[in-house]
Amino acid sequence: MKRLITLWALYTLFIPRVGADEGMWTLPLLKQQSVIDKMQALGLELQDYDLYNPTEGASSLKDAVIIFGGGCTGVVISPYGLMLTNHHCGYSQIQQHSTVEHDYLKEGFWAMTRGDELPNPGLSVTFIDRIEDVTAYVMSRLEADDNQDGMSFLSARYLNALAREKAGGDFLKTNPGTEVEIRPFYEGNQYYMFTRKKYTDVRLVGAPPSSVGKFGADTDNWMWPRHTGDFSLFRIYADANGNPAEYSPANVPLRPKRWMKISLDGIEDGDFAMMMGFPGRTNKYYTSWEVAERRDIDNAVRIHIRNLRQEAMLAEMLKDPALSIGYAAKYASSTNAYKNAVGSSWAISERNFEGLKRDAQDNLIAWSQKTNQPEYSEALRMLEQIVSDRRDLRYRSWVLDEALSRGIEFTGIPAEIEPVVEALRGKDKAGKREQLRLLTLARQRFLSSGYSPEVDRKIARVMLDEYRRMVPASQQPEYFRIIDKKFKGDTGRFIDYLFRKSIYGNGVVFADFVSRPSARKLERDPMILFAKAIQGEKKALAEALAGFDADFASERRIYVRGLLEMGAASFPDANSTLRLTYGQKRGYSPRDAVYYQSHSTLNGVIEKEDAGNWEFVVPARLKALYSAGGFSPYGMEDGGKMPVDFLITTHTTSGNSGSPVMNARGELIGLNFDRNWEGVGGDIQYLPDYQRSIIADIRYILFIIDRYAGASYLLEEMEIADS
Ligand code: ARG
Ligand code: GLU
Repeated sequence: MKRLITLWALYTLFIPRVGADEGMWTLPLLKQQSVIDKMQALGLELQDYDLYNPTEGASSLKDAVIIFGGGCTGVVISPYGLMLTNHHCGYSQIQQHSTVEHDYLKEGFWAMTRGDELPNPGLSVTFIDRIEDVTAYVMSRLEADDNQDGMSFLSARYLNALAREKAGGDFLKTNPGTEVEIRPFYEGNQYYMFTRKKYTDVRLVGAPPSSVGKFGADTDNWMWPRHTGDFSLFRIYADANGNPAEYSPANVPLRPKRWMKISLDGIEDGDFAMMMGFPGRTNKYYTSWEVAERRDIDNAVRIHIRNLRQEAMLAEMLKDPALSIGYAAKYASSTNAYKNAVGSSWAISERNFEGLKRDAQDNLIAWSQKTNQPEYSEALRMLEQIVSDRRDLRYRSWVLDEALSRGIEFTGIPAEIEPVVEALRGKDKAGKREQLRLLTLARQRFLSSGYSPEVDRKIARVMLDEYRRMVPASQQPEYFRIIDKKFKGDTGRFIDYLFRKSIYGNGVVFADFVSRPSARKLERDPMILFAKAIQGEKKALAEALAGFDADFASERRIYVRGLLEMGAASFPDANSTLRLTYGQKRGYSPRDAVYYQSHSTLNGVIEKEDAGNWEFVVPARLKALYSAGGFSPYGMEDGGKMPVDFLITTHTTSGNSGSPVMNARGELIGLNFDRNWEGVGGDIQYLPDYQRSIIADIRYILFIIDRYAGASYLLEEMEIADS
C-alpha cells in the first residue's frame, strides 16, 4: 500500500500525454498536471484559482456549477438563485405540470412573477463545496478493514461511511443539507472526498415551447447541423438562513456564493472555450475485449429491441394527443440511448477501437515484462477470460432487460403480494384492511403515472415475441411454458388473458377482489405471476453475473494501476463528479468533401420548418420575430444573423447536459446539450477530428426569454458583461 501511495504522488506529476482537447480533468490537479498552462496557451485569461479555489471561504467559478436532479448539470446565473439547465433536463418537470388544457411542453411556460414559479417535489440541486484527495486515508483504511466480498474499494456504502467518519457527526449536524461522499477514481486507484450541499426547493421559472426547446426532436437528436434552443430556467429556494429546506411558501430565493456572468460577445472559429459539469460515465480504459462485448452484446441488443419498441410506441402516440404527452419522456429517453448505441457501434468498428485498446494492452505487457511486474499481464489475461465466461449470461440479461423489464411496463407492477396474502389468511381484521388499502394505493400509483394499458399491451406483444425468438426456450422463465401449453404460442391471446384476469389489468376483477378478497385468487393472478417470473429471472441473472464482479473489478484495478505507473493514463474516466474540459470552436468534416460549419442560425430553423411534421413545427411568433429582424444585442456581428447553436471540441458525455460553456474570461457563452452522432464513440476513445459538443448559444437563449417570451424582467437579475 505504501508503494501505491508514493507512486500516486508520482502519477499526478505527469504531463498529460493525450490528444488535442481530450480530457475530463479533475479540478484540484489543473496546475499540477499543467492543464492550466495548456489552457492559457489556447487563450484562457484566468488562473487556476479563478476556476477552482480550495481556500476556505474563497469562491471560484466552480461554485456556480450544480448537479441538476439525478443526471444533468446546471449553472447559477443570478444572485437570486436563478439557474439554467437544458429543456431536456427539466423535461419531466415540465411534463408533470402539463395537462391537455395547459400543455407547457407544447406552449412553453413562463412565470411572470416569483409567485407563479412552480415547485417540483423530488427535484434537487446540489453544489460541490469542497474537494479533497483522500487516497492515502482510504488506502490505509482498506488495508485495516476486513473486506468480506472484496468489493469495499468500490462500494459506495463503505466509502460514504468512511466519508461521514472523516467529516465527523458534528460537522454534519451543524451544516444542514450538507452531505459527504468519497468516490473512487481510476477504478479505485485514487479517491476524492466531496462535501456537497443539496437544495430541494427548486421551482420551474421558464421553458420555451418544445418547438424551440426540442426543435428537431428525435430526427435531429445527436445530430449537426442543429437548431435547438435546449434550455429551461429554474430557481433555487432556501430557508431564511440560506439553508436547504423542503418546499415551503415561506422559503426565499437562494443567495448563492457565486453566479456566472454572461457575455453577448459570441465566439469565433478557433476561439478558446471551456466547460465545467458532471459527465456521467466513460470507458476510456476498456480492454479490447470489453470493446467487442459492448458492440456485440450491449449495443447490438439495445439497437435491435428498441427499434421495435419505439416503432410500436410512436404508432400509438400519433393516434392521441393525451398519449403523446403521457409517453413523451419515455419515448425520448428510449430513442436517446438507442441512437447513442448506434453511434457507439459505428465508431467502434469504423475507428478500430479494438485495435487501439489492444495496442495499449500490448504496450503494458511489454513494459511489465521489461520491469518484471507480471501482475499486469496476468490481470489482462484474467480480464479476457472473464469477458468470455460471462458472455451468455450477459446476452440473456441484456435481452431480458431491454425487451421485458424496460420494454413491458406491466412487468414493473407492485408484485410483492406476500404481506397481503398473509394478512388475508390471518385473523387480524384491521391488518387485513390495512393491507388491502396499501394494495389499492400501489395499484393506483402504478396505473396513474402516465400509464396506458392499451399502449403497453401493443408493445408487450412485440417485445414478448422478440424475447422468445432471441432466447432459447430452455433459458426462459418457467412460467412462460403456459404460453405454448395454454395459448399455443399465441402471445397476443396470452396478453389478453393477463389483462382479462388480473387485478392490475381489469377494474372489474379488482372491484370483485376487494369486495370478496381471497388469498388464493391473489396468488394465482396471472399478471402478478408473469411479473414475478420476470423479476425473478432478472434477479437470478444479476446474481450469476455478480459472481464475476469482484474478480473483474480487482483485475481492472490492477490493469489501470499499470497504465498509471507506465504513464499511459492522465485523467480518470467520468464518474458523475465535477470535471473541466476545454477546447476551441471548430467545425468538422464528417465525410469526404463535406464540411460542417461550427455555427447555426435562425435562418436554419426557418429552412427546416415543416408544419406537417411535429418535430419541425416553427411557432408563428418565432417566424414573425425572424421576419422583423433587428436582433441586436443578440445578433451576430457579420450580417446580424441570429445565432442558435455552435460546436466546440471539448470532451463531454451524458451528464454534461446543461453544462456552462465559458469564454477565455470565464463568462457564460452557451449551454452544452448534445454531441454529434459521429462523436459518441468518444466515450471509449476521444475522436479529435470529429467529436464535437453541441452548445446552445447564450444569445439565442436570452433572445427567446426576452423577445419571444416577453420575460425580460428575468434579464434584469442577470449580470451581463460589458462588451
Ligand atoms: N442527446 C441528448 C442527450 O444525450 C439530448 C437528449 C434529449 N432529446 C431527445 N430528443 N431525446 O441526452
Ligand atoms: N444530451 C446529453 C446529456 O443529457 C449530452 C450529450 C452527450 O452525451 O455528449 O447529458
